[in-house]
Amino acid sequence: MLDQVSQLREKMLKKKSGVLDLKPIKKTRVLAVTSGKGGVGKTNFALNFGLSLVEQNKKVLIFDVDLGFANIDVLLGQMPRETIATMIEKDLTVYDIIEEGPNGLLFISGGNGFNELFRMDDLKLKKFFQELGTLQGQVDYIILDTGAGLSYENLRYILAADDVILVTTPEPTSITDAYSIVKMVHGKDPNVHMKLVVNQCVSLKEGQRTAANFKQAAEQFLGKEIGTLGSIPNDSHIPEAVKKQQPLMLAYPSSESAIAIRQMTGEFLQLRMPYKLGLKGFIMKMLFK
Ligand SMILES: Nc1ncnc2c1ncn2[C@@H]1O[C@H](COP(=O)(O)OP(=O)(O)OP(=O)(O)O)[C@@H](O)[C@H]1O
Ligand SMILES: [Mg+2]
Repeated sequence: MLDQVSQLREKMLKKKSGVLDLKPIKKTRVLAVTSGKGGVGKTNFALNFGLSLVEQNKKVLIFDVDLGFANIDVLLGQMPRETIATMIEKDLTVYDIIEEGPNGLLFISGGNGFNELFRMDDLKLKKFFQELGTLQGQVDYIILDTGAGLSYENLRYILAADDVILVTTPEPTSITDAYSIVKMVHGKDPNVHMKLVVNQCVSLKEGQRTAANFKQAAEQFLGKEIGTLGSIPNDSHIPEAVKKQQPLMLAYPSSESAIAIRQMTGEFLQLRMPYKLGLKGFIMKMLFK
């Protein structure tokens, strides 16, 4: 049987040669997982949330866009064969840099090559995003694992995505940094959909209280409505899974944190969120804003 990446590549070749109908079969939603403060659990969340969506029969691609600190591949214990830099250099397709992880989860590693993306000339940047655009309709979700904070790159990803998942811990430093993200993003575009995830909570109550306070502050001072996806307990299974280089959802599927992520995924899939422009819109914004 062909692996997922080969199947996608075959489909694309047929599409290019006109054998397949050019209309995309479904919408591809782009989610940006971000945070104000670093080290709050974005990458672990992006990976395990992605795997949890796969459990719900969704096709998911995780795109590691964390400049310089890309590490989805490290969490999976799977080193990529090609990077974005070699893709551009050797004129490869996006299918040559997609890796297949466990359970058919797809991922693109940032690697060092990604540092150069925004410094590339416009033609190369355009070529890269055009390639990425061929994934429209091929996967249900593209999850961007971004870096922390208000860098130029991060803001572009946040403003271009369909939905933004903002990860914080209950610590005041993490909360105030997350709030700065909301403030900055809201000032640039009040229509960005943001959902909060409170990670590393000592109790469910702490998670709920943190989310409620955050929501209230955003509404009161910015007039911005923030959704809540839920909270994840502080759970030693997460660092244990990291050490094993296996995703939590597979290494410890019945752990408290895996159950919380699964529950969140169920709720996320129930949400009737307005669809923005999907992958095509994301690419337009990345190229022209
Ligand atoms: N719920 C949790 N319980 C316990 N430890 C956690 C939890 N979530 C994440 N961690 C630990 O926190 C550390 C940081 O996690 P992770 O790398 O996912 O954060 P990050 O936000 O992606 O960091 P960076 O900003 O550097 O990209 C890891 O060592 C991980 O094991
Ligand atoms: Mg990270």
